[in-house]
Amino acid sequence: MSTPATPRRLFVTTALPYANAPFHVGHMMEYIQADIWVRFQRMRGHEVHFVCADDAHGAPIMIAAEKAGQSPQDFVAGIAATRPKYLQGFHIGFDHWHSTDAPENHELAQDIYRALRREGLIGERTIQQFYDPVKGMFLPDRYVKGECPKCGAKDQYGDSCEVCGAVYAPTELKNPFSALSGATPELRSSAHHFFLLSSQRCRDFLQDWTATPGRLQPEVLNKIREWFTPDEQGHVSLSDWDISRDAPYFGIRIPDTEDKYFYVWLDAPVGYLASLKGHFAKLGLDYESYVADPAVEQIHFIGKDITYFHTLFWPAMLHFSGRKTPNHVFVHGFLQLSGEKMSKSRGTGLSPLRYLELGMNPEWLRYYLAAKLNGRVEDVDFNPDDFIARVNADLIGKYINIASRAAGFLAKRFGGELSADLGVEGRVLLDGLRAPAEAIAELYETREFGKALREVMALADRVNEYVDQHKPWELAKQAGMDAALHDVCSVCIEAFRLLTVYLKPVLPALAAQVESFLAVPPLHWGDSARALGKHRIGAYQHLMQRVDVKQIDALLAPPEPIEIGRAS
Ligand code: 2FM
Ligand code: ZN
Repeated sequence: MSTPATPRRLFVTTALPYANAPFHVGHMMEYIQADIWVRFQRMRGHEVHFVCADDAHGAPIMIAAEKAGQSPQDFVAGIAATRPKYLQGFHIGFDHWHSTDAPENHELAQDIYRALRREGLIGERTIQQFYDPVKGMFLPDRYVKGECPKCGAKDQYGDSCEVCGAVYAPTELKNPFSALSGATPELRSSAHHFFLLSSQRCRDFLQDWTATPGRLQPEVLNKIREWFTPDEQGHVSLSDWDISRDAPYFGIRIPDTEDKYFYVWLDAPVGYLASLKGHFAKLGLDYESYVADPAVEQIHFIGKDITYFHTLFWPAMLHFSGRKTPNHVFVHGFLQLSGEKMSKSRGTGLSPLRYLELGMNPEWLRYYLAAKLNGRVEDVDFNPDDFIARVNADLIGKYINIASRAAGFLAKRFGGELSADLGVEGRVLLDGLRAPAEAIAELYETREFGKALREVMALADRVNEYVDQHKPWELAKQAGMDAALHDVCSVCIEAFRLLTVYLKPVLPALAAQVESFLAVPPLHWGDSARALGKHRIGAYQHLMQRVDVKQIDALLAPPEPIEIGRAS
């Protein structure tokens, strides 16, 4: 396919995962969503830089490292080392994986902060916070526990009660104690730095920025409008943002301070730029001119829980530090298991590593999730029976079978050579398969992957109807029907190639196998507009196994209980 006259320049990211645990399947869903979109854009001839990084900083990681007896840096490196087997395992093609603790991020975060300060958008205020006298540190809300001020439930976190749902400040807890040392915390004062988001300048900018047509999904915009609407007391939820934390903290030092660090959420999104910068350094490309180019489209894929950070704080940080702001923030919902929230702590859920270790095909999951994803902020449900049905009945039953039904005859009877004629009906069928190429492209573009796959499966149905009508297995037995058999099988192979073009963003490894079987160069979107014509295909290799219900059972079985006292 020829490159479009002006290829788009796309800078695409997914949310940076905290480096405190291996990936869970929710991460995989986001990466698969973004990866499909990126692969689609590349098939259209566009230029994409697709990056991510570990979100390395913050109190929880510092505390987890201490518990593990490691420096935070070593702890984070240990988690980073687990990343490739998941990413490669599910064919997620990031161009670069970075860390928010890398030097580029320290520099960029400090530059952005200095620029905001020059703009008069940084304020200092003294706040009162619980301090753990044993650990010698201020306690994040989650590390203060006590009795709920509302219902009296014991052992509740400092920000909300899990029993009655009340939300409060840690200072309101009765009989508070430090979750780290058990000590009674002391209230101490400390000077904190704030990003003055409630200033009129910031509000005006954000109201404009968020309302720019096409930038955000409608339901995201509605949520943002709520944040800007005053409540009964006249408060809007957009207030100044506390961006500093006192030492000890694993993070980036605030310029001109000795013992203050950026709150992890300040430097985390800066990590998008740092990762791009690291990637460009590796490629020998000019980062500065790229990020200044107004033609570059900056796109962040995120989950709905972090919308606030990405649609308010992050664009304001970029804008007031003189940088380009994101063109789109694409928000998705959560992944559920049979209608229920997944809980790792209860041992329920769907482990991506176990999935791979069981030898399950990663493209089954890519296909299944794609079939359920759309461009809205909706939760996605993983349902085991539905998974089996979609993979076995649709992906294999409708699509893969087209190739397996035709390839044998072509190899045995025609030396793998395709017929150039195809017959009227065959040509009509293939034209019908080519016609919706742009409509399917638009569905990928708008992340309506479920609709795109439904469309492709409807095309596969048409091909299967054609096969059922022409019955190549009967033609093969009849004398004098060689030409008809040749045409029908050639139509099937051409149809299979077209369907493969449409499925390639979702099934990249399978598409590579198909390209080798068809003996064609890597498929681009524009290949849907042309015909193979006279061509010799390669030998058919078995393309994909069906899911076995036993695999799903093993995947979802609760983890084996640990047997105590048993020699191994
Ligand atoms: O919610 C999270 O998992 C964060 N680590 C996401 C950060 S996204 C970006 F801002 F870095
Ligand atoms: Zn309560």
